Amino acid sequence: MKTPERLPLCDAAALQERGKAVVWDVMQWGRPARAFALRIDGRVFGYLNRCVHVPTEMDWQEGEFLDADRRWILCSFHGAHYDPTTGQCAAGPCGRGRLTPVPCHEQDGQVWWQPTDDIRPVEFDEIPPGESHGQP
Ligand code: FES
Repeated sequence: MKTPERLPLCDAAALQERGKAVVWDVMQWGRPARAFALRIDGRVFGYLNRCVHVPTEMDWQEGEFLDADRRWILCSFHGAHYDPTTGQCAAGPCGRGRLTPVPCHEQDGQVWWQPTDDIRPVEFDEIPPGESHGQP
């Protein structure tokens, strides 16, 4: 199966510096999941919304991933801290793990995401009824 071309995600203005993330649905290995994008130091970073410690979503409210100092991606379950520019675990029960990147970039006022062989866009009627996002 051919990897799709990049896809539009949001207007660049929707991602404020160290602000709320844009969250969207994807498919990873044919299963529903969610991804998110943040702006950090002017650049856009995207990851799957799935903690390395326990494979669950991390935001404490939709799109709210950063700690009070807006420095770390913070898992709302057990407090794992991730470097938002690399996805690398910095503290907490995520060990040496790293968030799964979802390639994103910005061009001409638009943020794009790049599907990969593993992480693809949701096709119409692809999520079975009753299936949750990214939960084990
Ligand atoms: S589920 Fe994220 S730190 Fe435990």
